Amino acid sequence: MIIFGMESSCDDTAAAVLDVQYTENGDKYRLLSNVVSSQTAIHAEYGGVVPEIASRAHAEQISRVASEALKRAGITHADIDAVAVTFAPGLIGSLLVGVSYAKALACALDIPLIPVNHIEAHASAAYLEYPELPSSFLALIVSGGHTSFYDVTDHVFTEIGGSRDDAAGEAFDKVGRVMGLPYPGGAAMDKLAGAGFQREDWKAIRFPTPAMNDGTLEFSFSGLKTAVINHIHNTVQKSSAATGAELPLNIKEDIAAAFTKVTVKGICDKLAEAVKAHGYSHIVLAGGVAANSHLRGAAAELCEKLGVTLCAPSLSLCGDNGAMTAAAGAALYKEGIIADSKMNAFASDEGAMGYIESLRNKLKK
Ligand code: KG4
Ligand code: ZN
Repeated sequence: MIIFGMESSCDDTAAAVLDVQYTENGDKYRLLSNVVSSQTAIHAEYGGVVPEIASRAHAEQISRVASEALKRAGITHADIDAVAVTFAPGLIGSLLVGVSYAKALACALDIPLIPVNHIEAHASAAYLEYPELPSSFLALIVSGGHTSFYDVTDHVFTEIGGSRDDAAGEAFDKVGRVMGLPYPGGAAMDKLAGAGFQREDWKAIRFPTPAMNDGTLEFSFSGLKTAVINHIHNTVQKSSAATGAELPLNIKEDIAAAFTKVTVKGICDKLAEAVKAHGYSHIVLAGGVAANSHLRGAAAELCEKLGVTLCAPSLSLCGDNGAMTAAAGAALYKEGIIADSKMNAFASDEGAMGYIESLRNKLKK
């Protein structure tokens, strides 16, 4: 079965072609194409995603991206059996571009449309690379919008913890911005921290942990973000630099290292608590920030110590893409989840969860 996956929830316009075989020995996947058109360069000059510009850029790119995905897969529209599209959560104008395109495609081809929650899609990227993943696992999604734990059982996601305020990715990007790094700052912060860790100086910088010390699986990144920004401003005042961007490279590296250390440790501490409390055998670590080399390394070490299997999708499947949407769509299709005529885009998680739940309830009747 050929599933066409489409994603436009934020600033990446993406489409992918996934061949799925549902067999008695599990679902077999063959990713035939995965095309991502990033708007990073467009938003860089504003230091963040501008929603109006994002939706316009999606509208300009989506036909080209969709055609390119078909071309690279060596198929035509007639070969597609179902369309899976991210319908929530995200920027409403951006989501609407993908949803409208996917609805029109499914209608014109007279094939099923599958509504995909973006967060569930991030975790589903693991289905493509870890066939041994059991039907029940713990998903830790770390992205620009989320830092959340989910119990996943038969592709039903139940949030069991997460950030009370900012997401880890937001903190990476904001700290990067104050230090003059190009938007989004996550990948550049990863490199800076790597250089900082080569020395000892970062150890003198103390930042508060984002992990809540109250027995919950919750985080708070806003206090950490503010502490790092205050530290940068204080360092600027004591130096000859006029802004954080003008600080010497070694100082930026030390700050990036100290911030990364406390972020990674906070996330891993909560991961350990989640595994101990719930007894999972497999952990999926996904989302844009799951590309962070220090987080991947620490999570791998922790999982080995705990005797559990870490399933962290390849870097190309961590950031937003259509392959993960198609993978989530494959699981939903198998369950019988097909969008009805009421399907719409939702900015919020609640909207996404509520719609899928309503379709599940209809199936039970
Ligand atoms: O999943 P994603 O592409 O979009 C959302 O759903 O939010 O995540 C984007 C986030 C951005 O905050 C970006 O800076 C961050 O992922 N990111 C990283 C790295 N690569 C991307 N953060 C830390 N280290 C990285 N290597
Ligand atoms: Zn994402």
